[in-house]
Amino acid sequence: MAQALSLSLLLSILAIGSCVAIEVTDHIDLWPMPTSVSHGTQRLYVSKGITMTMVGSTYSDEKEILKDAFQRTVDLIKLNHVVDGANPSSFVLTSVNVVVHSSEDELKFGVDESYNLSIPTAGNPLHAQIEARTVFGALHALQTFSQLCYFDFTSRLIEIISAPWTISDTPRFPYRGLLIDTSRHYLPVTVIKKVINTMTYSKLNVLHWHIVDAQSFPIEIPSYPKLWNGSYSFSERYTTSDAIDIVRYAENRGVNVMAEIDVPGHALSWGVGYPSLWPSDTCKEPLDVSNNFSFGVIDGILSDFSKVFKFKFVHLGGDEVNTSCWTATPHIKKWLDDNHMNVTDAYRYFVLRSQKIAISHGYDVINWEETFNNFGDKLDRRTVVHNWLDEDVAPKVVAAGLRCIVSNQDKWYLDHLDATWEGFYTNEPLKDIDNPDQQRLVIGGEVCMWGEQIDASDIEQTIWPRAAAAAERLWTPIEKIALDPRLVTPRLARFRCLLNQRGVAAAPLAGYGRTAPYEPGPCVRQ
Ligand SMILES: *[C@@H]1O[C@H](CO)[C@@H](O)[C@H](O)[C@H]1NC(C)=O
Ligand SMILES: *[C@@H]1O[C@H](CO)[C@@H](O)[C@H](O)[C@H]1NC(C)=O
Ligand SMILES: *[C@@H]1O[C@H](CO)[C@@H](O)[C@H](O)[C@H]1NC(C)=O
Ligand SMILES: *[C@@H]1O[C@H](CO)[C@@H](O)[C@H](O)[C@H]1NC(C)=O
Ligand SMILES: *[C@@H]1O[C@H](CO)[C@@H](O)[C@H](O)[C@H]1NC(C)=O
Repeated sequence: MAQALSLSLLLSILAIGSCVAIEVTDHIDLWPMPTSVSHGTQRLYVSKGITMTMVGSTYSDEKEILKDAFQRTVDLIKLNHVVDGANPSSFVLTSVNVVVHSSEDELKFGVDESYNLSIPTAGNPLHAQIEARTVFGALHALQTFSQLCYFDFTSRLIEIISAPWTISDTPRFPYRGLLIDTSRHYLPVTVIKKVINTMTYSKLNVLHWHIVDAQSFPIEIPSYPKLWNGSYSFSERYTTSDAIDIVRYAENRGVNVMAEIDVPGHALSWGVGYPSLWPSDTCKEPLDVSNNFSFGVIDGILSDFSKVFKFKFVHLGGDEVNTSCWTATPHIKKWLDDNHMNVTDAYRYFVLRSQKIAISHGYDVINWEETFNNFGDKLDRRTVVHNWLDEDVAPKVVAAGLRCIVSNQDKWYLDHLDATWEGFYTNEPLKDIDNPDQQRLVIGGEVCMWGEQIDASDIEQTIWPRAAAAAERLWTPIEKIALDPRLVTPRLARFRCLLNQRGVAAAPLAGYGRTAPYEPGPCVRQ
């Protein structure tokens, strides 16, 4: 291992270039970096029959969330190698004991995700210990554990180096999101599940599902069964049962699914099944503000959603509303005049009425930042404002006492292929927010994988590893975040290679998003 370590050290130095001398202190192969880590120098062997126990746990694992997660961990750490070395007689880790203090197994916003993990060197055999308040903290602990394990080609066993390990960890922000967009291109259920599973490797915890938009309406809405007539084809669809299955899959991994309908602007596809939602046959968006039916359909969708998407928040969009169809359509123009509204008033009326409907179904609302920029003081006080335009809106939102999610497009839009991982890593959600009460209103951040140029063929390499760079920013305490991203290049490169070993098509670090390998050479040098 000394050899492997010095090789990675050498590569680190090469990777950061020769012009600036930077001390390389970043040898711990964990991503995201935990709150506190200490370790020794002993090598351990993971028993081929490693088991999980739950001695001292209040949580009973009725839904087998933990049991399944442990089985996945055991499969994951093998990386598909044939583990056929002989078990040695000492330093063998035979079990992981998981103590979860709360019996609660419902994934809620702000759930305690902290954990402690210790891997001792004293005892024969050895037992690792995980301690967490909730099962969701324990899931994170298993992810960290999996990153400490590797297949050794001499012993042909799974090993853990640098034991004993003592790790104590808790996330910096409760909302650590990734957006996917299934309107611009359909994403098969298998692909969505793989994205969710990969999110857990870097401890992201919210899948923002931008399900429908102008281009297509792939999901079944039982209350308005012709809405998915707006799908691209009969096969590019999700049934309600598919959506329930995706949510369950995610929740069992500690990932919340937040659904979005983007109204009134991004909704042209809704009118394929219900043409009266369009202002007219020649002017098809935004949704007709003068037609009560528009709100009836929103009510039906959110009523159906509330049975599927149990997360505290629903996203109602509200961005990029071009109101020219409203003034160009005679019956809407008349309605505006009758109600003494101009288009700005009508935009506000639409957003606020939609918010009320969502709240009536038990949701807190997230809206894109244009709603705040246009009529922030009128938004429901529970609104979370989702930034995407400039990075200066978050300080204004929290100064106004509302909550905020940060996604400034210059740094955190994955579809911007010229946005580098360094930009993802250095984007600070609390920039220019010094007041601690206001800082707490920034619930987190989200990287956005808009789907115009993404489908099942290229989504993984466009998301990873850049989303993971943001994941460390959102998880790790600010004191442990490197000011100079070059200090973490080697560690992120190794995490990227781990993703590849796990079957995730994470792209090389060098250059921009979704790049091909640069030249022949080891994974960490690409
Ligand atoms: C982790 O250990 C510390 C120190 O013993 C303790 O204060 C903390 O409550 C533990 N955290 C969890 C999640 O068990
Ligand atoms: C919607 O699709 C159904 C079949 O799935 C079809 O019978 C119906 O005519 C379609 N309606 C519209 C308005 O396209
Ligand atoms: C408008 O729609 C709402 C449902 O969103 C319904 O309760 C109400 O009765 C409708 N009003 C009119 C005038 O049709
Ligand atoms: C708004 O929509 C109208 C009609 O569809 C279009 O002509 C115009 O270019 C749009 N404006 C912007 C700023 O996109
Ligand atoms: C709409 O009317 C409001 C006053 O109700 C005014 O402040 C605003 O500037 C007007 N907007 C437009 C686009 O005319």
